[in-house]
Amino acid sequence: MTRSVAEHYGNDGIVSRIISALEEAGFDIKNLEPDVFAGADEFHVGGRKGSEFVASALTVQSGQRVLDLGSGIGGPARYIANMLDVTVEGIDLTPEFVEAAVEITEMVGMAEQVSFQIGSATSIPFDDDTFDASTMLHVGMNISDKELLFSEIARVSKTNGSIVVYDVMRTGKDDLVFPMPWSSTPEYSFVETTDAYVKAAENAGLELLTVDDHREMAMAFFNNPPSEPPPVNLGHLMGTGVPEMFANARNAINSGTISPILLCFTN
Ligand SMILES: C[S@@+](CC[C@H](N)C(=O)[O-])C[C@H]1O[C@@H](n2cnc3c(N)ncnc32)[C@H](O)[C@@H]1O
Repeated sequence: MTRSVAEHYGNDGIVSRIISALEEAGFDIKNLEPDVFAGADEFHVGGRKGSEFVASALTVQSGQRVLDLGSGIGGPARYIANMLDVTVEGIDLTPEFVEAAVEITEMVGMAEQVSFQIGSATSIPFDDDTFDASTMLHVGMNISDKELLFSEIARVSKTNGSIVVYDVMRTGKDDLVFPMPWSSTPEYSFVETTDAYVKAAENAGLELLTVDDHREMAMAFFNNPPSEPPPVNLGHLMGTGVPEMFANARNAINSGTISPILLCFTN
């Protein structure tokens, strides 16, 4: 199953597509700032806005160690590291994403602070009590066993750790139409209700602190795109299927079937 999730996301030439687009837009590719990648490297509803929600919900101190589960090509990890002055370690199932995450992080001079490796959120390749905080942005929709997911998050989190999950969750009963941005077929899509997430997290010993439904922001994100589009976008990351995936996601958001929801926990 995990191979098929990685097959949905994985594709060749991610960094060269992004760099060519930035070059065409007139950027000096020898001096790129992390923010110029934002349109392509924040693969979740709201893009930068979503990363901002997560960063401001985290309770961490300067220098602490954060795990980013399903780190993609690393936009959220770099943003959180920059904003909160923490080190961030990302794990992700998709080898091409991990490779791109490492390359972009080196390019922007952040390799000392942010690192990535291949790994599964349901078998986290770290010891117990390792991290001061964990983040997970738009990953749980690919994970069927939420109990195992949260037991792994709880295991690697230090006592009183901060855990922030920002996922697309089910808020209505209609069937989803595929492809969606997280899965080409229903077979690898496991969108669940907030209650199911909270139950799995509480069974793993986590304590729920807050729940925020970002539906309004999602409606604006999908229905009122910016008049000046960023120099790179998710098409550069995922290829030509993006418009259809986005149209399906937009319809499901507009009908109230799904919504991006932010959950904060501690353990
Ligand atoms: C929609 S993308 C989000 C990427 C990133 N969190 C972001 O917001 O930019 C989902 C990511 O989760 C990863 N993923 C899915 N299931 C996973 C699992 N069980 N363990 C680790 N990563 C997983 C995928 O490879 C993909 O990179």
